Amino acid sequence: MYAMNPKESNWQEPSKWEEIAAEWISFNESGKNIHRDFLNLPRFVEALPSLEIGMKGLEVGCGEGMLARKILTDGINLDACDISPVMINHARKKESQESHHITYFVENAEHLSFPENSYDFILAFMCLMDMDHPEKAIQEAYRVLKPGGFFQFSIVHPCFASSSHRKHVRDANGVSKAIEIGNYTSEGKVVVNWNNGSLKGTQTFHNHKMLTTWMMYGINAGFILEFLDEPFANSEILQKCEHLVHTISVPDNLIVRLRKPL
Ligand SMILES: C[S@@+](CC[C@H](N)C(=O)[O-])C[C@H]1O[C@@H](n2cnc3c(N)ncnc32)[C@H](O)[C@@H]1O
Repeated sequence: MYAMNPKESNWQEPSKWEEIAAEWISFNESGKNIHRDFLNLPRFVEALPSLEIGMKGLEVGCGEGMLARKILTDGINLDACDISPVMINHARKKESQESHHITYFVENAEHLSFPENSYDFILAFMCLMDMDHPEKAIQEAYRVLKPGGFFQFSIVHPCFASSSHRKHVRDANGVSKAIEIGNYTSEGKVVVNWNNGSLKGTQTFHNHKMLTTWMMYGINAGFILEFLDEPFANSEILQKCEHLVHTISVPDNLIVRLRKPL
């Protein structure tokens, strides 16, 4: 358990990510988060609409602030938040070493303390499926966005990667050529056992939802669906990291952009 400053968030539960924040940060700093760094993150950044001077953005579930630092350009005001104080402390430390003018907050994305209609855009990179109530985070994004603003997020692909039965089908050389999926319609917590780098032996959870559920969360919140992408490796990416070959047949991530109507 950890104590959180009640002024900073109303979240009362222990978080799995808080427990393994140090391992997550060193995993990312070791350059071993290949899937994110070579495929999902570049595609997420490419998909962003152009950010204009004077815009104000918020990233939720920002972890140690990697995406916020990456997308920030002069003249954009960026706030970033995460439920984990260890992640936010690390992000603030980086900010104090080299200022990007990002303001970090410890916040639960399901109950944000920011007023409504405050932001021009909101980002959530690989965190909504880690939340107990992602639908609340989507409703909160809608509430704090200005009319006309966008909410872009990336999640573990609900059809191919987040259900509790997922098995690589490999050829004679051990290369994954397909993914066997089951339990797709059983929504809820799925254990994720990490086996790479400093995360080896740690465990987190995904809150698996069907694709329909994710889309209806956005539509029921009032959003308009604007953009979808399912990143998969091309030959250039495969030259750098061949183990992403399975994404050619089955993508691991889904990128979604929603728009709050004017
Ligand atoms: C897989 S990590 C991704 C972090 C970061 N976006 C990145 O890509 O490096 C998931 C993050 O979601 C955060 N998180 C989980 N539930 C949250 C919630 N309810 N509100 C805010 N952040 C949350 C965790 O603390 C963790 O930092």
